[in-house]
Amino acid sequence: MVNLTIDGKQITVKKSATIYEAAKEAGIDIPVLCYAKKLLPYGACRICLVEVEQMKGRLIPSCTTPVTEGMVVKTTSPDITKVRKTVLEFLLVNHVVECPVCDKAGECDLQDLTFQYEVVKNRFEGEKFNLPTDEVNPLIERNMNRCVLCGKCVRVCDEIVGYGSYSFINRGFETKIATAFDRGLNCEFCGQCVSMCPVGAILPRPFKFKARPWQLSEVDTVCGYCGNGCTVTLGVLNDKVETIRFNDKTGVNDGNLCIRGRFGYGYIHHDDRLRKPLIRKDGQLVEAEWNEAIEAVVKGFNKAGNEKGLGILSGARMTNEELFLLKNLAKTLGTGNLDHSGGECYKGLTEGLMETLGVKASTGTFPQVESCDAILAIRSDFYETHPVFGMVVNQAVKRHDAQLFIVSDKKGKFSKLPHAKTLLGKPGTEIQILNSMAQVLLSEGLAVTDGVEGVEELKAALAKYAPADVAERTGVSVDAIKAAARALAGAKKSAILLAYGLPYAAHSKELAIAAANLSILTGNAGREGSGLYLCGEKSNSQGAIDLAILPEAGAMGAKDMLEAARNGNLSALYVVGEDLLTSYPDRDKVEAALKGLSFLVVQDIFLSPTAQQADVVLPASSFAEKDGTFTNAERRIQRVRKGVSSPGDAKTDFEIFELLSARFGRNISYTAPAAVFADIAANVAEYAGIQLDAVGPQGVVWGGDDLALKKKRVVAVDGPEAPQGDFLLVTGSSLYHSGTMSTRAKGSLSVVAEPYIEFGQEDAKKLQVTDGDVVTVKAEGGQIKLKAKVDRRLPQGVVFAPYHFASAEINRIYKGASAVAVELSK
Ligand code: SF4
Ligand code: SF4
Ligand code: SF4
Ligand code: FES
Repeated sequence: MVNLTIDGKQITVKKSATIYEAAKEAGIDIPVLCYAKKLLPYGACRICLVEVEQMKGRLIPSCTTPVTEGMVVKTTSPDITKVRKTVLEFLLVNHVVECPVCDKAGECDLQDLTFQYEVVKNRFEGEKFNLPTDEVNPLIERNMNRCVLCGKCVRVCDEIVGYGSYSFINRGFETKIATAFDRGLNCEFCGQCVSMCPVGAILPRPFKFKARPWQLSEVDTVCGYCGNGCTVTLGVLNDKVETIRFNDKTGVNDGNLCIRGRFGYGYIHHDDRLRKPLIRKDGQLVEAEWNEAIEAVVKGFNKAGNEKGLGILSGARMTNEELFLLKNLAKTLGTGNLDHSGGECYKGLTEGLMETLGVKASTGTFPQVESCDAILAIRSDFYETHPVFGMVVNQAVKRHDAQLFIVSDKKGKFSKLPHAKTLLGKPGTEIQILNSMAQVLLSEGLAVTDGVEGVEELKAALAKYAPADVAERTGVSVDAIKAAARALAGAKKSAILLAYGLPYAAHSKELAIAAANLSILTGNAGREGSGLYLCGEKSNSQGAIDLAILPEAGAMGAKDMLEAARNGNLSALYVVGEDLLTSYPDRDKVEAALKGLSFLVVQDIFLSPTAQQADVVLPASSFAEKDGTFTNAERRIQRVRKGVSSPGDAKTDFEIFELLSARFGRNISYTAPAAVFADIAANVAEYAGIQLDAVGPQGVVWGGDDLALKKKRVVAVDGPEAPQGDFLLVTGSSLYHSGTMSTRAKGSLSVVAEPYIEFGQEDAKKLQVTDGDVVTVKAEGGQIKLKAKVDRRLPQGVVFAPYHFASAEINRIYKGASAVAVELSK
């Protein structure tokens, strides 16, 4: 620690602090423009100059100068004020004067500082810039006439996002921020540069002319998309979410968001939102009142109970409190057939982890990953499924020289990071590659085996996974397998990342076990600061696992329920917040299952293809319309807060479950989510002792930063071979979308508007396919047509199609295997 004096105040701070940070900690305000907490010190704008006595009263930038023992600092004086005024005058030399129409007015640092320092005239006269505004894309507007050259956009895009869109070009007065070849912006549209820019040079276009910042009320809540669980701040005016605001004071994401979180909120107020319950009458869905709809549900469920029974399939975007009520409702309805996924994906993963580590969640927290020395990401889609966690990985690599290995069938953004090594295997062979890494650890004597059960059996089983054999089968080199295994074993702190979700259902249990084996053998499991990260696709995937939205012993899970429905052995299905027809693998089977039911209830926010088949549709609420908690992929329980009302007569899932419970005779009425949370804490072991009131801005991580393992048992699992075929189709997430909800969000649609099939350049050339061509994809007796997109990341023989779009009907040919052999023609 270091002691210093700032403005006469004695302060003790960490040795690594800068003068600016020390002052901030002491509540002393120093103006800044180019400084940002999450960026490396830069020192370009000079607005933060302060006087240091030991430096003979020289003025120095406080944001880049480290504190030293005994330092005496003055942050205000007539001289300092004079210099700051001059700095502002310089900044205003070429800055256009157009505050009246600038969207940033009211929250522009330059405007505030000009006001504070009373810069009413400018001694320096200069020609004003007259640069064209970049409005090439629909999401971000760039007006460089307003730029103060603080470099924050350049730095955030490089340091945090890892994209590197911008750089300074030209010199002197002509200096400006530009993209490569000074073209319009075309990037991943995360909007980090929007949130960082202290002036109105980079603005979110969807917010243009919607509201003045001071008119907005701000509501901190959690993003409704992926399991990263970023804090988002809704900017609300007149009961409408007008924008998503930058907030680096709460949550795990330091104000970082991906395109979905920042620009994907449009679906909340979409015209197609369900506003009234619907009941099927004479084959048509017609609007009804709640009473009538609930009566119809009660009648249908009662009938089903007396016939072949009822099943419940839920999504994972409800709050914990809602999931808890759903679980109770299932009990009231007398059914153990409850699940929250398609196929065996979620269930398989948790079973795999329980078998090996005795836990069913990530063992570490996201911030720990930034200081890891080695990171293994399984599936390159990882950045596309969890972009903001991807930004943490970027920082680990760039700021802390972490070694990054990616086991995947295609290259992604991770593969482009400095020194990243992609173990590019044939589709579906990840388990083999992980097994081979485990084999290397054991055969080279690098494995941690103390207190580990099952080592000898595993050793014997891994004989067929020697790197040379696996290299032959998967296409990954022997050296790459060995290097990855050795790096993980040699790391002081390491992270193993595994994403899961509906499009990754194949061999999920084996994959979880193979990853857990590696985690144990490398010493990653149970070591402080290291962890195996199980990252769920949806905002509350972890909550759904914690609250056991899974079949009871002897009851049916998703796969079995659909099978039973198909065979006429299940009478009714209650589908809550999931579009089975679009996102479950094997559409034909799902269709047959829905046809086999005598009664289908769908509770959702849109009339999805599944809802269109229902007998009763119950209109529900989006995340922005409810209170409660989500648990993210690192076990962090965070508060979800209501920002706006639901449209029309739509109700929260919480209200709907209460209504139904009451009608089925279980009349427990909770006053609010807090009461349910107390009940969760009393019933779910992991949540014991946690009180909702204690869930502050940073949330509460159940189990602590390093989750204690219940056991360490390695288990042998076999990995499948890649399917045979000239072309293998893999499906999964695309960065711009999450599940099917974002396909109703204007922001996401403005970048990726329609389904596509992606080709690597070599294959595109061979098949003479160019961007936009319509390609017929045939497999498994089905065929679909998709527009082609040509890129560079796919190896020869592999094509990719995202699974989000209902119209694509990918699941006509994707039936749950990790890859599908397809025939392609134009
Ligand atoms: S939107 Fe994101 S990726 Fe695009 S330039 Fe800004 S920071 Fe970079
Ligand atoms: S565009 Fe904004 S963030 Fe980028 S350098 Fe200019 S003022 Fe700074
Ligand atoms: S989609 Fe995921 S990564 Fe993106 S903002 Fe939302 S929670 Fe964060
Ligand atoms: S904030 Fe310190 S130099 Fe810009």
